[in-house]
Amino acid sequence: MIELKNITKSYNGERVLKGINLEIRDGEFLSIMGESGSGKSTLLNVMGGFLPPDEGFVLWNGENINAFDNARTSAFRCGEMGFVFQSFRLISTLTAEENILLPAMLAHKDMKQTRAYMADLCRTLGIDGMIKKYPDQLSGGQQQRAAIIRALICRPAAAVFDEPTGALDSDMQKRVMELLRRINAEGTTIIQVTHSRAMAEYGSRIAGIKDGMICG
Ligand SMILES: Nc1ncnc2c1ncn2[C@@H]1O[C@H](COP(=O)(O)OP(=O)(O)OP(=O)(O)O)[C@@H](O)[C@H]1O
Ligand SMILES: [Mg+2]
Repeated sequence: MIELKNITKSYNGERVLKGINLEIRDGEFLSIMGESGSGKSTLLNVMGGFLPPDEGFVLWNGENINAFDNARTSAFRCGEMGFVFQSFRLISTLTAEENILLPAMLAHKDMKQTRAYMADLCRTLGIDGMIKKYPDQLSGGQQQRAAIIRALICRPAAAVFDEPTGALDSDMQKRVMELLRRINAEGTTIIQVTHSRAMAEYGSRIAGIKDGMICG
């Protein structure tokens, strides 16, 4: 369960999030929609603990993620909540494969099983032939798929996606959504931001964000 309690966030005195309250139950597939600039990425970055809120807090199964120490943050990031940034944020000095495997290595996962799972996910998203390449040798869509697989590699309890199909063609968008639906059916809570109504409808719930507040 993820609970956002009265979250506010401003940039340079301009309030972007104005008291967000949101509960995401275990096993949900939540789609969040809103206009460009409405604060969706800011909200996800707060939810993932990458950005501290000005006011309010985020509870992860009752624990305040903003009070995590380094060890707790590391465990949270490497296995509990997967995250795909809008700009992917692959590490440029590592190959796609090394990027994907890094969270599993840090979480001390069984690497034989992890590699088998990586191969399955890479085949599903059609990047199995490209994972020895570095991010700057990959297209935007290939980087996006590598970032999605990195977020899922530890079979996290929850995974957060900031416009996960923004760089993909319509066939690949569908494959990504079907993968998210499958992972959700296997028990992972999914939160995605999207501009596409068709992508949003893969979710079990759609919420809107407008003027820094949750609506709908
Ligand atoms: N680091 C920052 N410094 C200053 N202002 C920022 C920063 N990040 C975001 N903003 C501003 O906050 C507002 C919300 O940005 P955010 O990236 O959360 O929007 P978004 O809904 O994700 O938009 P998009 O759909 O275009 O990705 C925008 O007006 C943006 O200009
Ligand atoms: Mg955004």
